[in-house]
Amino acid sequence: MSALTGRKIVVTAGATIEAIDPVRFLSNRSSGKQGYLIAEALAHRGADVRLVSGPTCLPCPLDVTRIDIESARDMLAAVEAELPADAFIAVAAVADWRPAETHTRKAEKSAQGTMLQLVENPDILKYVANLAHNRPPLVVGFAAETHDVSERAHKKRLRKGCDWIVANDVSGDAMGGEENAAVLITNDGEETWPRTRKVAIAALLADRIETALAKM
Ligand code: CTP
Repeated sequence: MSALTGRKIVVTAGATIEAIDPVRFLSNRSSGKQGYLIAEALAHRGADVRLVSGPTCLPCPLDVTRIDIESARDMLAAVEAELPADAFIAVAAVADWRPAETHTRKAEKSAQGTMLQLVENPDILKYVANLAHNRPPLVVGFAAETHDVSERAHKKRLRKGCDWIVANDVSGDAMGGEENAAVLITNDGEETWPRTRKVAIAALLADRIETALAKM
């Protein structure tokens, strides 16, 4: 039996979208592929996976419970509703900012002007990693880096308070592509995963999570 059998794991994936008005929004290029593959790999090893997902074109992986959300604040509420959990894996590309105001009616071009005021979104990973109660025993974040990948990711791990960071080298076509190169940063050091298919990265991470949860 796998150490993941019956373990509850919350995974976030995809981009969040932040409404400007009923027809316009801010978002980013995340496809959700890496997060969905991780959810699938964990479920395949027996975990009870809750996939909190922004809008994507992807089908829900087999044996995964998907919770659909749009904004970062919706994502945070959905994640909190799923706690306690054995692990939290933050793969989503959460929009860093949202419009200060969301119009309930379509804003006129002329009335809106050219300035959009933004406010910062909650940092879901940091929030969960620093919970006094209900902090999952294993909290994993992702980092998209174009340079100084491992140095920046080490700092990010400490800044966010998470246990591990999977640092993606996004200098190529990682966002939306089929491949990824990554470095896994933990308290014990780092492990480099050379460029490979996202499904292989998902399997590597699921294996590491399985080993870690077996000791918890
Ligand atoms: N994250 C989150 N909530 C946010 C922003 C990010 O949960 N509001 C999570 C992501 O899911 C990911 C990690 O934090 O696990 C990425 O952190 P972030 O600071 O956004 O790093 P980068 O995307 O690498 O960007 P930057 O280096 O510009 O901060």
